[in-house]
Amino acid sequence: MRHARALLLSLGAAGLVAAATLTAQAQTAPSQAAASVLAEMEERTSLKPATAFNTITDKNARSVALFQEAGKVITHPRCANCHPVDRPTQGDDRRPHMPVVARGGDGHGEGLQCASCHTAKNVWVGGTYIVTIPGNPKWALAPASMAWQGKSLGEICAQIKDPARNGGKTLAQIQEHMAVDELVAWGWNPGLGRAAAPGTQAQLGELIQAWIDTGASCPAPGGAKVPSHDLKIEAGALKPKI
Ligand code: HEC
Ligand code: HEC
Repeated sequence: MRHARALLLSLGAAGLVAAATLTAQAQTAPSQAAASVLAEMEERTSLKPATAFNTITDKNARSVALFQEAGKVITHPRCANCHPVDRPTQGDDRRPHMPVVARGGDGHGEGLQCASCHTAKNVWVGGTYIVTIPGNPKWALAPASMAWQGKSLGEICAQIKDPARNGGKTLAQIQEHMAVDELVAWGWNPGLGRAAAPGTQAQLGELIQAWIDTGASCPAPGGAKVPSHDLKIEAGALKPKI
């Protein structure tokens, strides 16, 4: 009798331990769906170092893979918002810039100058508006020939290599621009309320250097295009009737 009770008690204890283990597992191990969402977020917000591509033995394929990794930064809203067809976009949803502003001849705005609002540094204007107004001494829209919105990464790659469209830059100057330019640097210091570009600017510089060292090959021109709400404006969706 005493043995039976001892047996029951120990079975009960074992059951409790098993139940507790199961509950703990259910709480800590993410479901497969959650795990794949987390993996996707990690993939989008992180940047692999250039050395991670050394295992790709085919030089051309390695070059393309390196540019594709750098493409995570290039196509990120922090960069692409300022490389539109015509007018800048804002935020991670790449909505049209409000108020509507025009590029102007020098990229600093026509009529309403960028510098009327964008000063030399990020500024938080306070109140309940938690997004800072982006700022940088060189704040201006990239020239139309350097537009990335509405283009695939392969098309952007070809354009970045083309001195007729990249501002007359050599590949070495493109690398330097990506690696140390202070306006490009804003992408990793975008101010409160805005996500930074993936990785670091130094890592981007290394990826671009390794891409050049492997022959600066471009991905195929097809594929997904960088979203552009700007094009909707161009299509007349938001055009005022004058
Ligand atoms: C505030 C607007 C703005 C932002 C934000 C911005 N750029 Fe630019 N970008 C420019 C302007 C203006 C130029 C032209 C500069 C020049 O000719 O010296 C330019 C030119 C470039 C070029 C020269 C070649 C070409 O064909 O485009 C590269 C490369 C570039 N930017 C990379 C980046 C990257 C990477 C980011 C994000 C980390 C970024 N930019 C964010 C405005 C911006
Ligand atoms: C009347 C004020 C004003 C003017 C003029 C102005 N901006 Fe802005 N801009 C803002 C404000 C405010 C924000 C932040 C809004 C937000 O992110 O919700 C902003 C955000 C942006 C962003 C988005 C940054 C990001 O990645 O989210 C870009 C790019 C930009 N402006 C470029 C320009 C350029 C280029 C010009 C000149 C051609 C210009 N702006 C003129 C007020 C202005």
